[in-house]
This record gives sequence, structure tokens and C-alpha cells, in this order.
Amino acid sequence: MKIAVPAEFDLGEPRVAATPDTVKRLVALGAEIAVQSGAGLRSGILDADYQAAGATIASSAAEAAIGADVVLKVRRPTAEEMLTYKRGTLVIGILDPYGNEEALRQLADAGLTAFSMELMPRITRAQVMDVLSSQANLAGYRAVIDAAAEFGRALPMMMTAAGTVPAARTFVMGAGVAGLQAIATARRLGAVVTATDVRPASKEQVESLGAKFVAVEDDEFKQAETSGGYAKPMSAEYQAKQAALVAEHIKKQDIVITTALIPGRPAPRLISAAMVASMKPGSVLVDLAVERGGNVEGAVAGQVTDVNGVKIVGYLNVAGRIAASASQLYAKNLYAFLETLVDKQAKALAVKWDDELVKATLLTRDGAVVHPNFAPKSTVGTTEGAAS
Ligand code: NAI
Repeated sequence: MKIAVPAEFDLGEPRVAATPDTVKRLVALGAEIAVQSGAGLRSGILDADYQAAGATIASSAAEAAIGADVVLKVRRPTAEEMLTYKRGTLVIGILDPYGNEEALRQLADAGLTAFSMELMPRITRAQVMDVLSSQANLAGYRAVIDAAAEFGRALPMMMTAAGTVPAARTFVMGAGVAGLQAIATARRLGAVVTATDVRPASKEQVESLGAKFVAVEDDEFKQAETSGGYAKPMSAEYQAKQAALVAEHIKKQDIVITTALIPGRPAPRLISAAMVASMKPGSVLVDLAVERGGNVEGAVAGQVTDVNGVKIVGYLNVAGRIAASASQLYAKNLYAFLETLVDKQAKALAVKWDDELVKATLLTRDGAVVHPNFAPKSTVGTTEGAAS
């Protein structure tokens, strides 16, 4: 069983899909690991660290991929990279399948068996493989650090001989994984924190972190959670009431962190240009939803914009801004999943095609797109169960 770990092709991606720790564990599973030279550099990992853990170093991505049965990636490989993998290779990464039918077709045409980690079910057994949580948690932390760096004042209250510096008022919108970590981080830095979400279950979580919950708590709010624990899109009427409450609250805030997402849809627009204009100069907004269209009007993907003295931070790949930690957790997520695809006695790949984790994440196999959410309707069922 040979596993390849190429460097990420995308220059905006500093993370890497394996660490010396996961390399050691994979070697113990009986794997031979080839890591592309320099793959870990931007996560603070040297080639020598991988070698000490038992990997060999390949001079290029193509060389690492020679004969590989598994390729571990952060992002989806490019069409060119795919051509360097042998047919039947397992490709595991954050493959971003939504709206990328052409790329899924390419994965299928290259004969690859592709698993998309962000489709992992959020069940107890798979918590250790949950890349959305591991990366969102770090993004929530980093959002507060980025806000603090752009903010011209201190976050904690400081009483000094020369006068008192007030605590920064910080408002977190969306209290899922990223939002809860943003709340905890802002609290640790001494900010006065409030937060909102449309899921009623989040109220207790927000309060348990020492923040105040701010939301329109009407009947619709009480029903606003799916059985899967995600937010539902809210009615226009609720959104208007929420917007009025937020508009009043936001005027008094120094820092706003937005993390609101609804799976499979564009991010809800929570902050209008008028709300931004109502904030004091020097205030900072960080929009973690910018990659999905943004919660804040005026947020620009990949940039910090200044709107009359109010800064809107729209960094992309925020987890990648804390790459060493993000790679550490991501690599562990991948290892935990890969371990379930291996027969430990035989020290060989043995994918259980009926396992719910496999079924939920498998995008392509035997030349076809097989995931029910992405497969052309006519092929669903005809490829499932085919011999590998
Ligand atoms: P997400 O990234 O899809 O959304 C972030 C947050 O935005 C959510 O809390 C959502 O309710 C909120 N939101 C959506 N529309 C909003 C609006 N109009 N205004 C304010 N907030 C809005 O969600 P994430 O962070 O992936 O987690 C969602 C839930 O799943 C959470 O309850 C989380 O604790 C739970 N979860 C459960 C796991 C498990 O059981 N293994 C693992 C990870 C998360």
C-alpha cells in the first residue's frame, strides 16, 4: 500500500494533508509514504521531519504519485495532477463538489476513487474525521486574532495610571463551530461578547461561554433547527425582525465576526451597508462567510476593505492562516478515515463499500460519479456495488 502526499498546487493553500505524526501512524498500518519535497514547509514541517517519521521524499508531485494506491490532498487535484495518478487510486481531500460537475467528471474519467471529506456525516463515530469542525474551529479563533490585529484599540479593559481603556464590544453572528470558538477567543482576550444565531440550541451554548445571547426568540426561532442540527433558511418576516434588532445592536459594537452559513445555499446577508455605516470609525468586521457570498455587504473576498474608517476583513481560507495547527488537525482527520479503509491484518486497502462513512463521502468510482447528490440520475444505482 503506497500513499502519496503531494504539495498543494494552489498557492493560496498552505496546509498539507499529512504530518510526521500521521506518517508514523500510516507506516504502522503497513503503508509506504512518499511526500513531495517542501509539501509541509508552509505548515512548519521540514522534509527531514517526514523522513524521520518514515516517509521518503519525492522531488515532484508526479514522482510522489508513481504507483500510489492513495493520494492524500487538502484540495481537489487539478486535471493535470489527476493524470499522474493510476486508475483506481483513492483520492481523499476537501474536494468541494458543489457546483463543480466538470471537475467531478474529470475525477471519474481519470478512473479515481474520490472521497470528499466535507461530506462526512456528523455522527459520533465520525467526529474525529470531521474536517468542517476541525477547520472551522481554527477559523473562528483566527477571525478574532485578525480582528484584534486590525482594531486600533485593546480588547481587554485596562485600568492604568494614565486612564482606563474600555473593553472592546464584540458581536458574533452565527454560533456554530466557528462562532463558538470566536466567542471563547474574544472572551479570553477580555472583550465583552454578545452573539446571535437562529438555532435555539445555540442560546445555551453561547451563555455557557459567558456571552450574552441576542436574538428575536419568536415561534419561528423555536423551530429553526433541522433534525441534522443545521439552520433552516428563515422567512422574510423573521429576517426583517432580526435585522432591526441587529441594526440597533451593531451601532454599539467595536468588532463583529460573522460566521452564518446554511448548508448548500449562499450565506445569508445579515449586515447591510447601512449597518456598516452606523458603526464607529475604527470598528472591524470579519466575514468568515465571504467564500460563500458573505454575510456582510461590502465584504471583498481576499481583502480588507475600508468603508469610511470601518474595516471589513474578507480573508479567504482563514483556517489556512493558522496553517500548522490546521494541518495537524486535518491530517489527523484524514488518518482516522483512512484507517477505516485498511485491513490491519493484511496491511492492505480494504474499502467497505457499504460503510455509511464511505457511502456518504464517495464521489467517483469505476469511471462514474456515484454520489447520489452529484451523479447524473441515469447512472445512480448502475455503478453502485460494481466490483472495484
Ligand atoms: P454552519 O457552518 O453551517 O453555520 C454556522 C452557524 O450559522 C450555524 O450555527 C447556523 O445556525 C448559523 N446561522 C445560519 N443562518 C443564520 C442567520 N440568519 N443568523 C444567525 N446565524 C445563522 O454550522 P456548523 O458550525 O458546521 O455547525 C452547525 C451545528 O452542528 C452546530 O450546532 C454544531 O454544534 C453542530 N455540530 C455537530 C457535530 C456532531 O454532532 N458531530 C459536529 C459539528 C457540528
